[in-house]
Amino acid sequence: MAAAGERAIEFGMEAADQRMSELRARAEASVSAEALANVFGKSDSDLVMNNRRAEAAWGGIDLVPRVLVDMSQSTTATSVLGQPVRLPVIVGPTGEIQRALHPDGELAVARAAETVGAAMILSTFASYSFADVARCTSHPLWFQLYFMTDRGLTAELVRRAEVGGCSAIVLTVDVNGAIPNWGRLQQASINASAVFEGLDLSTAPNELVDPRLDWDGLEWLCAQTSLPIIIKGIQSPQDAALAAGAGASGIVVSNHGGFALEGSAAPVELLPAVVQATGDELEIYVDGGVRRGTDILKALALGARAVLIGRPMLWGLMAGGEAGVQSALEILRRELLTAQLLCGVSDITQVPAELTRVSGFQPQGEL
Ligand SMILES: Cc1cc2nc3c(=O)[nH]c(=O)nc-3n(C[C@H](O)[C@H](O)[C@H](O)COP(=O)(O)O)c2cc1C
Repeated sequence: MAAAGERAIEFGMEAADQRMSELRARAEASVSAEALANVFGKSDSDLVMNNRRAEAAWGGIDLVPRVLVDMSQSTTATSVLGQPVRLPVIVGPTGEIQRALHPDGELAVARAAETVGAAMILSTFASYSFADVARCTSHPLWFQLYFMTDRGLTAELVRRAEVGGCSAIVLTVDVNGAIPNWGRLQQASINASAVFEGLDLSTAPNELVDPRLDWDGLEWLCAQTSLPIIIKGIQSPQDAALAAGAGASGIVVSNHGGFALEGSAAPVELLPAVVQATGDELEIYVDGGVRRGTDILKALALGARAVLIGRPMLWGLMAGGEAGVQSALEILRRELLTAQLLCGVSDITQVPAELTRVSGFQPQGEL
């Protein structure tokens, strides 16, 4: 459990980077422009534009702090699906690219998540096995599933995740059998999927993933496992309501870090409508462009339980393996706690909606 009354300034080791932008710059300087484009997309590509829009959207939300609140017991500790974590940040799935960027790949990420007390999601295309990763962390480890065209294969992956120590299935639904940027990502990848070990993986990944998946398919998946199911890649409030009705335990409001649909909205812009459509029926997470502690506080004020990060973890891996990922998480934690102290939010599970408003001068006197 996290110590009560955490102090932003005293937290953690001496960080190499004080801000995410410094870690990012260090990471980007460590590889060639070509390698960088293979992982994150070319600088003028749709996916980079989508992700820039997601990053910028957080800046369009203001925080309106409360003062004279007793902050002596303030903490970033919370829970996700009932499991305690020390930070409302979940390390998102990013395929086998983690090992391509650092030989320790997911093991480094899991060790950093353990140190900081964060949950982690292991990708369908993870390069280390469930058992190897699970050994590195006692915090929640969830399995991100692409629904396979071969249902027997899908059921087997779910079984492996259960036996391997994962405590939830995160079903990614936003690429629908068409993983964009796959060709480029392949150039950066190392073809080391450990999750499929011993299974026939001769089919190309775009054909592996079932484009026929619908709400009936979800029902079938729910019947295969007793683990809670989170749906990753929800954007429309209607789908969010359907997910709640279909028995999902959580949803991730996400556009796959910009990798999916060109011209999609910044996920945080969709969050309020999604929250309104689902009420308290399931836990809602959001990702896309989360780079600062204040972004996390804004997400929670808007109704999210936690945020996911993709790129910040990859920058950490590139800049320094486990220590780099730990640095990324510590930057977010330190900044979140600082924001809490400055906003009068002692308990991160109770962030009032009134803490945020849309940026801009409001001459009518209404916030
Ligand atoms: C290189 C890369 C690979 C990714 N691979 C996956 C994946 O295999 N499955 C998945 O559900 N999401 C994948 N994502 C999306 C992330 O899980 C996450 O939704 C996104 O990166 C969050 O946005 P951010 O990078 O701005 O933090 C990937 C993202 C990146 C950058």
